[in-house]
This record gives sequence, structure tokens and C-alpha cells, in this order.
Amino acid sequence: MTSVVSTRTQLADAAFAPVRDFYVSSRYARHRNDPDVCDFTFGNPHEMPLAGFVSALRECAVPRDKNWFAYKTSEPDPQAFLADRVGRELELVFEPADIALTAGAFAAIMVAFHLVLDRGDEVVFSEPAWFCYEPMLLAADLVPRKVRLKGPEFDLDLDAIERAIGPKTRLVIINSPHNPTGRIYGRDAIEALAGLLERASTRFGRRIFLVSDEPYRRLRFDGRGFVSPAAVYPWTLISYSYGKVLLAPGQRLGYLALSPLMPSGDRQALRDAMFSAQMALGWCFPNAVMQYALPELEELSIDRAALARRRDQLTGTLTRAGFDVLPPEGTFYLWSKWPAGDPDRHWNALADRKVFVMPGSIMGSPEYLRISLTASDRMVERALPAFAAMAAA
Ligand SMILES: Cc1ncc(COP(=O)(O)O)c(C=O)c1O
Repeated sequence: MTSVVSTRTQLADAAFAPVRDFYVSSRYARHRNDPDVCDFTFGNPHEMPLAGFVSALRECAVPRDKNWFAYKTSEPDPQAFLADRVGRELELVFEPADIALTAGAFAAIMVAFHLVLDRGDEVVFSEPAWFCYEPMLLAADLVPRKVRLKGPEFDLDLDAIERAIGPKTRLVIINSPHNPTGRIYGRDAIEALAGLLERASTRFGRRIFLVSDEPYRRLRFDGRGFVSPAAVYPWTLISYSYGKVLLAPGQRLGYLALSPLMPSGDRQALRDAMFSAQMALGWCFPNAVMQYALPELEELSIDRAALARRRDQLTGTLTRAGFDVLPPEGTFYLWSKWPAGDPDRHWNALADRKVFVMPGSIMGSPEYLRISLTASDRMVERALPAFAAMAAA
């Protein structure tokens, strides 16, 4: 008998299965709530939320008029606020209508897919990648075209991207600062990518869009700068989330921003279709309280110095233990090659010591692991000897 589940959801489910199984039925799933576990897997909080976050939400939860909790779309005040703030941050002149408020980056990405893509269109992205692009594409009846990032530094492989682009390609996704490698792509790489997309759009007679997925944009180490592709390639849509910088992904807030460099006809067409796209995808606007709280939330960040400290402590111990760490330039992840030997055995040896990391196999890179620096300092302290002992065993 054929399944009652739609084909596209079955495809999405198959692509997502390694992550889902890891989360719900693996050895990690069975132990993640044990009191003494060191959890370096997902980018979840392991300490109490930022005090300013809690007070902003508490204040904004008290209604001031009868419409306080009425349906909310992209409300004019937060749109205008973001046009100004994001504009100053990225040195671009946004208009409020360029910024659609969304329930995090997840929703922004899905809205972008539905705005510019039709069933069967191809989308190019680079691996290792955040593990949700592929299931999200499949669930939207789109065709993922994956290319590899270029080792050992995991640079964009522009030749591979160019080869992957064909007549059905309508979108390329790039993510910087990059999950899982922590790389930030510089202006040269972005300009080269923009040139390539321009040439390919002309060659195939169809405009290729770029989604620049930037939810880790504020989480950068060592004073590194950031150039948004929206400042370089006019057909860029930025997806952003406050879930990372506030480490509160359960309270959904983000946006999809159109590059103000986009020619006015295309830009206006996308603006005009935005409301319907967000409605039709299930009203994926942020809740009222998150929209009211936005100006206060914009000022807050998790402790970046603490992330850098944990990065340094772990990098030192791991390097001495024979791991090959790629120093992250941004995000809150550490990407490393396992020492020689069997990665599964290594993973289990850490799990024996109650240290759980994200296996790279989930991101198509079995020789690697990802460590989330959102683990608490106590977890890091307890885990350091475990990493050393695992490598010595
Ligand atoms: C690269 C990337 N994009 C988008 C998202 C989605 O972010 P949010 O859950 O805040 O919408 C994540 C979350 O892990 C991510 O790593």
C-alpha cells in the first residue's frame, strides 16, 4: 500500500532522518537530560536566558490597547526600525517595505523559496551545510543541487558552483558566518560569486537569485568584519534570525530583507507578493510580543567573549589531543576533524564520558565533528579532560 504521506514530505523526511534520529532516538537522545551531561550538540542554551530578554518580553506582554494581540503582519514600527538599523549595520539604504518580519530565519528562507521559485526549480548550496536546507527544499517541491566546500579551509568552491548551475537553476544559497565551519566569506569571494551569478543569469536567460542566510551575522570573533552579499549582488534576499544572537530560538523573530540594490521593478514585485506568500505559508509572521520587543532585543547579545574563551580552551585541548581544528571566524560552533581512527568509536568514547558532540556524518562529513560553544563553562571544564582521555585511549 502506498503511504498516506505526500511524496514531497516523505522525501523531506528521508533527508532529515539522520538529524531527527539523532535528536529523538540516539544514545544522545537517551542521555541529553542527565544532570551531569556535557552537551555540545545543538545550538541550544544551557544557562538561564539573558535578563534583558526576559524583562523586554515581560513588559511587552502587558496589553496597552484592545488590538495588542490582534493579528500581526509585518508591522510598520518594527519595519521602519529595522530598515534604519539593518541599513546602518550593512551600509545599505533599505526602505521599510524591503523588510518582512518573519518567525525566525526558517520562515524567512521558506518565504524566499516560495517568492521566487516554482516546482522543479533547482537550488545550489554548498556542503557541509546546515541540515535543514535540503528537507526544506524537498518539502517545497524544489531540487537541491549540492556542491562541496573546498578543503582544508572550507572556502566556497566557485568552479563547482558554476558547474552545478544549469538552465533550471533559479537560486543559490550561501550562509556566512557559516554553520558548521565558522567561516566568514570575504568581499573577494562574494564579488566573484556575484560575477558568476550575473554571467549564468545572462547565459540561461533567467535571473538567478541569492539567499544570503545570515543568522550568525553578529556572532563574529576577533573583531572580524562582515560584508553582506546584499551589498554586492542586487538579487539577494537576506534571511536573519534573532534566535542566535539572543540564544532564544524558541521565541521566534527574524526577517527577510530585499537588497535595496535590486532593480525597482523586481524589488516592487517581491514586496507586493510578500504578504500573500507569508499568509499562504501559514501566517509565518512573528508573534505580537516579539514585534513590540524588537527595539530592546536589538540591543542585546549573548556573551561573545565567553564564546571566544570556550573556543580557545577547546581548541587548545583538542589540538594537543590530535584533533585538527578549523579556527572559527564566527558562529558559535567549532568544526574539527577527528583524530585518526574510527569516528564512530571516537564519538562513543566521548559519550562514555558523558560528552556529546554533533557527528559530522549528519552534515555529510563523517571525518568531522561540530562542537557547540553554547555549552556552559562547567560543561567545557568537565569535557576538556574527556577529550584528552578519549584521544589517549
Ligand atoms: C544556517 C542556519 N540558518 C537558519 C537557521 C534557522 O534559525 P532560526 O531557528 O532562528 O530560524 C539556523 C539554525 O540553526 C542555521 O544554523
